[in-house]
Amino acid sequence: MCGIVGYMGGQDAYPILIKGLKRLEYRGYDSAGIALVNQGDFRLYKCKGKVADLVNMVGQLPTHGTLGIGHTRWATHGVPNDVNAHPHISGDGSLSLIHNGIIENYATLKEELVNRGHKFQSDTDTEVLVHFIEDVRATTGVDLFEAVRVALSEVIGAYAIVVLDNNNPQQMIAAKKSSPLVIGIGENGDFFIASDATPIIEYTKNVVYLEDEEVALMDRTSGLKIVTIQNQQKTPYIQALELKLEAIEKGGYDSFMLEEIHEQPRSIRDSIRGRLNLQHGQIRMSGIDQHEDRWINARRIIVVACGTSWHAGLVAEYLFEEFARIPVEVEYASEFRYRNPVILPDDIVISISQSGETADTLAAIELAKEKGAFIFGVCNVVGSSISRATMSGAYTHAGPEIGVASTKAFTAQVTVLYQIALSVANKRGTISKERLLRLIAELSSLPDKVEEVLKTNPIVETIAELHKDHRNALYLGRGYTFPVALEGALKLKEISYIHAEGYPAAEMKHGPIALIDQEMPVFVIAPQGHSYEKVVSNIQEVKARKGKIIAIVTAGDKIVADLADHVIEIPKTDDSLVPIISVIPLQLLAYHIAVMRGCNVDQPRNLAKSVTVE
Ligand code: G6P
Repeated sequence: MCGIVGYMGGQDAYPILIKGLKRLEYRGYDSAGIALVNQGDFRLYKCKGKVADLVNMVGQLPTHGTLGIGHTRWATHGVPNDVNAHPHISGDGSLSLIHNGIIENYATLKEELVNRGHKFQSDTDTEVLVHFIEDVRATTGVDLFEAVRVALSEVIGAYAIVVLDNNNPQQMIAAKKSSPLVIGIGENGDFFIASDATPIIEYTKNVVYLEDEEVALMDRTSGLKIVTIQNQQKTPYIQALELKLEAIEKGGYDSFMLEEIHEQPRSIRDSIRGRLNLQHGQIRMSGIDQHEDRWINARRIIVVACGTSWHAGLVAEYLFEEFARIPVEVEYASEFRYRNPVILPDDIVISISQSGETADTLAAIELAKEKGAFIFGVCNVVGSSISRATMSGAYTHAGPEIGVASTKAFTAQVTVLYQIALSVANKRGTISKERLLRLIAELSSLPDKVEEVLKTNPIVETIAELHKDHRNALYLGRGYTFPVALEGALKLKEISYIHAEGYPAAEMKHGPIALIDQEMPVFVIAPQGHSYEKVVSNIQEVKARKGKIIAIVTAGDKIVADLADHVIEIPKTDDSLVPIISVIPLQLLAYHIAVMRGCNVDQPRNLAKSVTVE
């Protein structure tokens, strides 16, 4: 994780770097730092805490300079403190470096460097890297660009780095492998560099996404030059950035998370737009249509994902099996990549990722590729590493998600997976035309139903007030709502730090029931539909043990309303679409509880939005 940003041009670097770091804080926020280079002058400011703490620390200290780099950290090696914060400086003080990733062979490199007289201040792998580059430069006499390339050819691990010569305001050098980096080319020879495009958008639309194992030299006189670690010259591929500034602002809400929850009618609409044909019962998705034979003949689907995206994958399992009659396995990417998974010629691997940068998911894709699999990506971030690494795919079009706890990305992922499942079912002839038409109509009415669900906010807030002080919570669902139970529990623990578990309602009696007493709130997703009566029985079991029931029910439900302590009503829809609308009250609930407990909902402790380390 970690966010990195750099600027070289005609303007003052400091405000550009600070603004950029604030936008990148979702990537990590335990310490922050900045290095500024001016003719004959070098400044380094760094501290534990957020970017705002850095700004306070800098206060009125001098910040002039038109070249600089900045970093916001999510600790991997060494606790968050002032010393471990980036930028790190070489032993002779000549170089500054910021890094996102992990240098796996740092211990070996460090030992060699220590034997050669290097002394280290921090516990980080990054400081080892900057010393190593300094050492290569000093011992070989090559220039910094070449020294970076040579040093990186001996590095094992993941990195996105930006390196400055503290005595040379003419150049900025960057490189990447497995962690993202985008270069913005501004007017009048300005260069921007960042972990994603958000620090760049108001300055330029011309960007170059650096590829793995590429090293870039930005020079005030000669412009941009890119070579590979193997020393092959590359021609920079300049693309037009499509991101809009409004899309990364809070839009009047107190937090990004709340804004993103309320955006869901729009984001779901965008993930459907142009894909559904209500009249003819067709779903047009180019990633599916172009590989029709593969989907028709698929013998198995393997989903690889992490976190909330993994939960979307669980919903997809039910969808593909019900509609397209294709067996599905849903794998944690981190487990899949270290097994020796069996992948057969007619398997399709679907990777799901909001950021498109999750290290474990990327590695799972690479492994599946090696084994000859066809890989389809469901990503939110356009142009992200996963969207580029997959052979085909569908974007979720949810727009930038900044709150660390994923909300609108989840509902957009499920909406897209829903359309894929229906499209494939149609092509395979496993769904009747009537049913398809009915489900497409139902799907297109979903954004309106999501609007309705959002109106439950005041009730949810009241329920949150009653349950904000509990230390544990249980979430139960069954069939399509089991993944929703997992996702609801994840939301609560992520942002309010209350221990919560999601369980299949019927599994409760095999263990979790032992936890139930009058102190235990049990959130049950109990819409009318296929498993309704069974879930009602599970609710009875909780009541018999004096548990508190908060149930999400279909509007007008009387049976559960009589049993439960509180109900939240959602509009009626098909069982298969319930996950999308039933998760929303659970997002709101987690949000309110977290706010009431004084937690930072957008930047919960220890977490990061984009997990680019394994
Ligand atoms: C992190 C985020 C989660 C996210 C997970 C997977 O843990 O905090 O919200 O679900 O990564 O991320 P991805 O970008 O691959 O969906």
